[in-house]
Amino acid sequence: MEKPIYLDYNATTPMDPLVFEAMKPYFVEEFGNASSSSHPYGWAANRAVKRAREQLAKVLNCHPSEIIWTSGATESNNMAIIGTVRQFLPQRTHIITANTEHKAVLEVFEMAEELGAEVTVLPVNEKGQITPHQVEKALRPHTRLVSLMMANNEIGTLHPIAEIAEQLKSKDILFHTDAAQAVGKIPLDLKHLPVDLLSISGHKIYGPKGIGALFLRKKNPCIQLKNLICGGEQEAGLRPGTLNVPGIVGLAEACQIAHEKMPEESKRLVQLRDQLIEKVLEECPGTLLNGHPKERLPNNASFSFEGLSADVFTLGLSGLALSSGSACTSASGKPSHVITALGRPESLARATIRIGLGRMTTAENIQTAADKIIAMVQKNSKISAIY
Ligand SMILES: Cc1ncc(COP(=O)(O)O)c(C=O)c1O
Repeated sequence: MEKPIYLDYNATTPMDPLVFEAMKPYFVEEFGNASSSSHPYGWAANRAVKRAREQLAKVLNCHPSEIIWTSGATESNNMAIIGTVRQFLPQRTHIITANTEHKAVLEVFEMAEELGAEVTVLPVNEKGQITPHQVEKALRPHTRLVSLMMANNEIGTLHPIAEIAEQLKSKDILFHTDAAQAVGKIPLDLKHLPVDLLSISGHKIYGPKGIGALFLRKKNPCIQLKNLICGGEQEAGLRPGTLNVPGIVGLAEACQIAHEKMPEESKRLVQLRDQLIEKVLEECPGTLLNGHPKERLPNNASFSFEGLSADVFTLGLSGLALSSGSACTSASGKPSHVITALGRPESLARATIRIGLGRMTTAENIQTAADKIIAMVQKNSKISAIY
């Protein structure tokens, strides 16, 4: 059977063969434990981790000591949010986020509340954005942390992160951003963007799964976190456990490649994405584009179709591998919390598809996708008009 066209790059990406090549030696030949300091096997692994840390820091424009290796953005988010809350408790601790965050932030906020933090979840506007004014109004004397994603995984919307980060810096409130979807797709310079904590995931940027990083600012200010797990001294005791050397090497390589390719690739993807959006909106009246029309990821388009039920997608869109929400929530069968947060009714939230474009997406793929979507909508709106 022919494989469907892959259009789910916001869920995950295939590994770049160059990343795989860079990782290979660290599975079999250079298998040492990076913490073994008494023999060459350990030294080689340790050198590889050090090189990867420097490589990633250079791409992000931060200091290597500000990188903590984790298992992915989920763990980085947990470390940033719970680590901050535990650092401040039992003092009064108020933390703020938004209602379109990934579950890897929203559920962490629920856990923080159980631990004793006061929590505010801000509602986004109809384009999926939070304004600096909203954040300002929500602040309390004991607000310790604001966590807002850099780019949304379902609708691609970008928050005005730089403005919000500046505003919080002047008030000594920590700012965390989940950048799992943003890294490698939009420019990021940690010397000039005053965020304190930033989460990264390997598998969203053509790197391996099960590896990520947390950027933790060490200067102006020097952030202190409480560790979530214990049992060793790796990563300054913040993240004990034997380091995943191939994964670390792969993440750094993937990040560098993504940044090198970004100027050209994002231009190409914006063109393809906009062609798709234009065609679908033109040919399918009653279709809504979710998210901000301009301030959005280069590779994402999310549509809701008025009058269609969700089950028509499965049949009508065979041949396209896309998602009806985020990969993490589509299994639950619930309508997406992101689409309902935009003010769309549940029925519309269910009649939603997310298209994620990526490095292997061609103009022909997008033409096929547009044709299939348009045919599916036109056929099913005719049926709804008859009955
Ligand atoms: C915005 C966002 N945050 C966090 C995650 C989780 O990342 P990971 O799979 O690396 O834990 C994802 C992936 O779905 C995501 O899109």
